[in-house]
Amino acid sequence: MSIQKVSTRPFKDQRPGTSGLRKKVTTFQQPHYLENFIQSIFDVIGEIKGKTIVLGGDGRFHNKEALQIIIKMAAANGIGRTMVGLGGILSTPAASCVIRKHNLLGGIILSASHNPGGPKGDFGVKYNVENGGPSPGHVTESFYRRSLEINTYCFFDAPDVDLEQLGENRIGDMVVEIFDSVADYAGLMERLFDFDRMKELFSSGKFSMVYDGMNAVTGPYARAIFEGRLGAPLGTVINGDPLPDFGGIHPDPNLKHARELVEIMNSENAPDFGAASDGDGDRNMILGRRFFVTPSDSLAILAANADLVPGYSGGLSGIARSMPTSMAADRVAEALGIQCYETPTGWKFFGNLLDAGKVTLCGEESFGTGSDHMREKDGLWAVLFWLNLLAAKEEPVKKIVQDHWRKFGRNFYSRHDYEGLEPDSANGLMDHLRESLTCLMGKYFGNYEVEIADDFSYTDPVDGSLSTGQGIRIIFRGASRIVFRLSGTGTEGAILRVYLERYEIDTERQDQDTQEALSDLIIIANNIAQIHTRTGRDMPSVIT
Ligand code: G1P
Ligand code: ZN
Repeated sequence: MSIQKVSTRPFKDQRPGTSGLRKKVTTFQQPHYLENFIQSIFDVIGEIKGKTIVLGGDGRFHNKEALQIIIKMAAANGIGRTMVGLGGILSTPAASCVIRKHNLLGGIILSASHNPGGPKGDFGVKYNVENGGPSPGHVTESFYRRSLEINTYCFFDAPDVDLEQLGENRIGDMVVEIFDSVADYAGLMERLFDFDRMKELFSSGKFSMVYDGMNAVTGPYARAIFEGRLGAPLGTVINGDPLPDFGGIHPDPNLKHARELVEIMNSENAPDFGAASDGDGDRNMILGRRFFVTPSDSLAILAANADLVPGYSGGLSGIARSMPTSMAADRVAEALGIQCYETPTGWKFFGNLLDAGKVTLCGEESFGTGSDHMREKDGLWAVLFWLNLLAAKEEPVKKIVQDHWRKFGRNFYSRHDYEGLEPDSANGLMDHLRESLTCLMGKYFGNYEVEIADDFSYTDPVDGSLSTGQGIRIIFRGASRIVFRLSGTGTEGAILRVYLERYEIDTERQDQDTQEALSDLIIIANNIAQIHTRTGRDMPSVIT
């Protein structure tokens, strides 16, 4: 057993995107590729000698092989202790929870989130910092800069560690602790939510739920919480075993990909409540009986009802939402007399606001919701929040949502994604939009008058850092909007995201079908961005 210094050459494509470095598995399988990026992280995060990090992943293909490499690199780089999730499993929220609970230096999470897995699928690496949140932009940029000049990495030549056995192992001077991350995470949830009330709900015999783990990381956590601590019947959790290829499904909890759950919730004898999470457990989808709750509405409803949940009954300090997320939460913030912050897309922008105590709840339209209990979005947390509301209110999901619309108005909302576009045509489309901004101001499209047309930029109110080019916003008088941006998480071609929103105060017109309610805006978006002519596409690939 010895430390080796291995010579390497830089790869030019290791710039992290919206959420870590995400590439095809085959890219990560190239000799030295993973090692270069991990060494770049170790080289720039400061003093690491003797410190503790947490390590694990969402169980996707290549997870275990990559973990063995990283464990040996951690030992060779002088890390004192590495905590590894049992079986290599660690959800993104659990990583954040463990970093904060044990005051760790940080954590490495192996995940490509909601992207497909398997040998031909995607893989990814994220580094979370000591507050438990994703690395801020200037940190990921420093990983990238380092990766462009790296010429050696350190590796401890040692046998593989058994990831399936709880307990301590040793590589050189480093302790490798295989631990059960489910216990820490479930304990945190127990402190935030009214577990007794939820237990009663399940034991009343009048309530049923189905939770879809999508064969990804949350299965073990969900079984321990719903079927274990809350006494829900066995079988409440479906697709609960993490599989390397997610059983062939795309682990993104939305109406298109969570097909099995959606079928159950639309069936004749549908349960009262349905929910799902993504590959690494930070996203959530909430469904009632034959009813879908948009993530933007979900954030607003959680905020409006937070007084019913023990962990939040003391009041909210503020709310934050990503810019493309609907403005439903803004209305709740106004009613509560608190601030609603609008940040660029990506959870990393919430970190400073949470650390400074400026916000309690945060959310993104992309099925991400969370709070100051950690520094990541948290899928199961959102499901438990809803479950706590259902137990406290004793009303169906649909009624809770409709009552919310009646009180605050409804923000009809949908996102249209055009996937696998030629990068040149996608960039051309965005350039054209940017050039059109000035002439769009004041222009009419039918009844819609453009009030603001800009390229969103954000100055962080805590550290003053400026982020520019965060999405084209076309805001119409009366609070309707169209937003255009390119994805920063895809691994194939470019993805155009078109976000559509229309505010409806008239209670008689709030129960329309969403796509119908947005049909004028859909046409306007196509005209303004010339989507069809520039991309050749007639239809979005995914509508959420
Ligand atoms: C997408 C979502 C964004 C989310 C990110 C990571 O990023 O849109 O809200 O934070 O995944 O889950 P995008 O591909 O749009 O850059
Ligand atoms: Zn995720």
